[in-house]
Amino acid sequence: MGSEDDVMRDTVRRRYAEAALSVGEGGAGSCCGESSCACSGSDSGASDMTGDGYSADDKGGLPEAAVGASLGCGNPVALAELREGEVVLDLGSGGGIDVLLSAKRVGSEGKAYGLDMTDEMLALAKKNAREAGAGNVEFLKGEIEDIPLPDEHVDVVVSNCVINLSTDKKRVLEEAFRVLRPGGRFAVYDVVFVGDKASLSDETLEAVGLWTGCVAGALEKSEYEAMLSEAGFEDVSVEVAHTHDPDSIAKAHGVDAKDFRGISVASAFARATKPEG
Ligand SMILES: C[S@@+](CC[C@H](N)C(=O)[O-])C[C@H]1O[C@@H](n2cnc3c(N)ncnc32)[C@H](O)[C@@H]1O
Repeated sequence: MGSEDDVMRDTVRRRYAEAALSVGEGGAGSCCGESSCACSGSDSGASDMTGDGYSADDKGGLPEAAVGASLGCGNPVALAELREGEVVLDLGSGGGIDVLLSAKRVGSEGKAYGLDMTDEMLALAKKNAREAGAGNVEFLKGEIEDIPLPDEHVDVVVSNCVINLSTDKKRVLEEAFRVLRPGGRFAVYDVVFVGDKASLSDETLEAVGLWTGCVAGALEKSEYEAMLSEAGFEDVSVEVAHTHDPDSIAKAHGVDAKDFRGISVASAFARATKPEG
């Protein structure tokens, strides 16, 4: 991993440490501190990026801080069709909302793992799990590019607005494939570009603020599908759930709205299966 990637990852880690601490202190969850965050729906003008796909029932059964720390762009657990007894892994689990919801769905015979690289997020998630009284969860410290679990260990990989932050998405998808059992499912919400990413200026693509806010680091929908297939998955699809307003994204991130002509930014549900046998 090159040093530029390390710098980028440290920037992401710092941002999410700040976000975790601000939730811990009772502040509103914001993944990107003072600069706006596309997927947290702060007061950035990009609030339509907030992906609150959680039902009142889902939220009602969780600690307030787990709901408050939610920084995703959808509800992958609702779409993952989890069954009792399954083992689930959440990549970039943040404050733990999707781990806790998964744990409920798989029951005491199942297990939900959360993986995150940010100590402050892990501390918040563990506190939330204690408050929720969840006995079938485990939070792991590590990077989604190098998952600290053995091969074929989980039935389902979920993730919510995280893989777009990775500097090595190919590696993340290969790792997800490795830890899934044959027949296992990949059920992930993420931010994608729909259209030709090459039409964006270098300035926009390189803007760290955008990267940490989920946008500039996103893949094109078709790239995502191709990368999943290349990792070995079958039944691959990336379905756009919600397209975001280009003007508000540009305004929020201080870039030229014209840059987003011919390309849109969307929250999408990526699903795929690891072949049996
Ligand atoms: C946008 S937040 C989403 C958190 C959670 N999935 C949710 O829906 O609330 C991104 C999370 O992913 C973690 N993260 C980002 N890049 C990561 C990486 N390469 N490895 C592990 N965790 C990462 C951050 O620490 C942060 O907690």
